[in-house]
Amino acid sequence: MTLTLTEMAVEVLTTADGREKTAKSRAFAAEWAASRAAGDALPLGEATPPLRPSRPDRPKLLDPREVPRRRPGSPQGRIALLHAVAHIELNAVDLHWDIVARFAHVPLPAGFYDDWVRAADEESKHFGLMCECLEELGSHYGALPAHAGMWRAAEDTADDLFGRLAVVPMVLEARGLDVTPGMIDIFRKAGADSAVAALETIYAEEVGHVAYGSKWYHFLCGRHDVDPTPHFHTLVRKYFHGALKPPFNEEKRAEAGLPPDFYWPLVDSR
Ligand SMILES: [Fe+2]
Ligand SMILES: [Fe+2]
Repeated sequence: MTLTLTEMAVEVLTTADGREKTAKSRAFAAEWAASRAAGDALPLGEATPPLRPSRPDRPKLLDPREVPRRRPGSPQGRIALLHAVAHIELNAVDLHWDIVARFAHVPLPAGFYDDWVRAADEESKHFGLMCECLEELGSHYGALPAHAGMWRAAEDTADDLFGRLAVVPMVLEARGLDVTPGMIDIFRKAGADSAVAALETIYAEEVGHVAYGSKWYHFLCGRHDVDPTPHFHTLVRKYFHGALKPPFNEEKRAEAGLPPDFYWPLVDSR
């Protein structure tokens, strides 16, 4: 029996194990893409996503202030960094499937689903890459504690597609563009070639995810006749509980359709 796209999303969200979750995510993404290529897109359906996705027993989720800090120059520090990225990627898989199902009542072009399903597929690949890097270093996803509260942005914006697009791809994923080059440097200095290659893949593909955010955010602004820049500031101040921190990767942000007047006014504004 073929699932609807929202049923696929719910199936991913309710699968706890990371490897299982990402395997399903990749298989469903391929099914969706094949149906679109054949001109016979799978129906969207109206399956309801859970408020929170299922997660494995390990890693233990801690308040960010309780997660031990390790020196990034040490081998243990590099493992902790890869572990943190793996956790972010797994969360991102759920975030992208959630946006697919959560806002199914909002009429949107099929291209909206193409983009987020593709992003979910790429995050699934990123999670796998990070797992392999961790295993190469004798560790694994779940070996260390991880940040709790990563789902907060999703819960806060569960009723607001505008807010979801502003906070998840255009703030959180854009932040990834700022910090990834520094991470790549750390692994390059350590001669960790496979981690460098994996992080470079992630870096290249994350530009696309931010760009999907900007594209659909601007689409909605056009539909509702709102001014994109001030509205973005309002949404981020409403839903994002933290400061936007420079330095920004202005070049990659620009490539992703995020101009400086979107983010600079949000620095030190609270
Ligand atoms: Fe990713
Ligand atoms: Fe992403």
